Amino acid sequence: YGTQSINEKGHLTIGGVDTIDLAAQYGTPLFVYDIALFRERAQAFQKTFQNEQVGYQVAYASKAFSGIAIYQVAAQEGLSLDVVSGGELYTAIQSGFPKEKIHFHGNNKSQAEIDMAFDEEIGCIVVDNFYEIELLKKTAERRQQKMNILLRVTPGIEAHTHDYITTGQEDSKFGFDLNNGQADRAFEETYAHGHLELIGLHCHIGSQIFETAAFQKASEKLLLKMATWKQDHSYTCSVLNLGGGFGIRYTEEDAPLEPAVYVKDMIRTVKTASEGAGFPVPEIWIEPGRSLIGDAGTTLYTIGSTKDVPDTRRYAAVDGGMSDNIRPALYGAKYSSLLANRAQEEAGQVYTIAGKCCESGDKLIEEAQLPEVSAGDILAVFCTGAYGYSMASNYNRITRPAVVFAEGGKHQLVIHRESFEDLIKNEEGYMQEGAKR
Ligand code: LLP
Repeated sequence: YGTQSINEKGHLTIGGVDTIDLAAQYGTPLFVYDIALFRERAQAFQKTFQNEQVGYQVAYASKAFSGIAIYQVAAQEGLSLDVVSGGELYTAIQSGFPKEKIHFHGNNKSQAEIDMAFDEEIGCIVVDNFYEIELLKKTAERRQQKMNILLRVTPGIEAHTHDYITTGQEDSKFGFDLNNGQADRAFEETYAHGHLELIGLHCHIGSQIFETAAFQKASEKLLLKMATWKQDHSYTCSVLNLGGGFGIRYTEEDAPLEPAVYVKDMIRTVKTASEGAGFPVPEIWIEPGRSLIGDAGTTLYTIGSTKDVPDTRRYAAVDGGMSDNIRPALYGAKYSSLLANRAQEEAGQVYTIAGKCCESGDKLIEEAQLPEVSAGDILAVFCTGAYGYSMASNYNRITRPAVVFAEGGKHQLVIHRESFEDLIKNEEGYMQEGAKR
């Protein structure tokens, strides 16, 4: 993928940087990001919109991997930013991200989070439910301040993906139901409000989607709704936000389309549907997370113990696991790997890559094709850039890994490895005579 290569020492390189040197310098587990690849993906999405001559915003769904450094790269590439919590918003502000390009999501935003969005005068809030409409109205009126809003709707479309990551179907905790009058009610409660500026509709139909049909159906449904509101209320929404969810290739089994293909198809559908409905072609916004950052990330681990279960399998254990990548345990997600220090050796063995957490289910890869491994080998697991670090935990009091950005033969440490001191920094002791540590 991207700028990955193998150098004369037989070592895996990323962004022109030797991964074995990185492992030696920063320790493992270590997330290494191929930043040129992130930039390339960001440009590919945006160029497609430019070529098709439609208004657009490409917002990086930063839940996939959030942090000051990646927010800065996203800003450099002209992306907008999707944040889903006060914490992500705070980080974005600290990174200097252009506030007017920040979109705030979430199905249970607190009053404090909403106030923060108003304080920072961010680009828009994607409104999820009636409770939030009330909070927003009160806040805007109290502050006498305007806020752009989009209404998030669930179109009742099932994209073919894992159960836990489908979000567009009817029985979803997210959004206003498009098919039972909820979306109409949300529209009626907001479009004429003096401070809330309803600019459009949003939907997100799922994640790791490999087909264009679901996006087509969703965009047609949303456009029809927008056309109806125009007819009945003479109100024209200018933005159609179709969310993220474009699939990527974790293993050979995955067959995603090129990012540009999803977008081209989407634009064509929206144009045709707009014409059909006599509706001006809206701005099209998307929110890719995984497809921007997923294959840019690689995790380096050091192999330690091995165990043979005769006639069954061979385990090779690494110095991380579900604490830095919960996806195999949570979703049965599959990954591919390579021995980074002997990248050219024939992969004649099959190993189950186990993590170091106290859980039998802590396996990163069921069947990894590798050369015969020994302690000290460096294992590279690919495509861990999305929902890896961002879903990492301190389970078993394992510290979160460090993160390095590599680009053009240079590298920079952007997130330090957590220390044991970090683990207890918010803690007080407990003794009967008073809190002590
Ligand atoms: N927009 C909204 C409103 C979303 O809820 C999501 C993801 C995205 C955009 C970005 O989706 P992407 O392009 O990354 O697929 N933790 C799961 C994925 C959860 C996705 C939640 N929403 C995983 O590791 O697969």
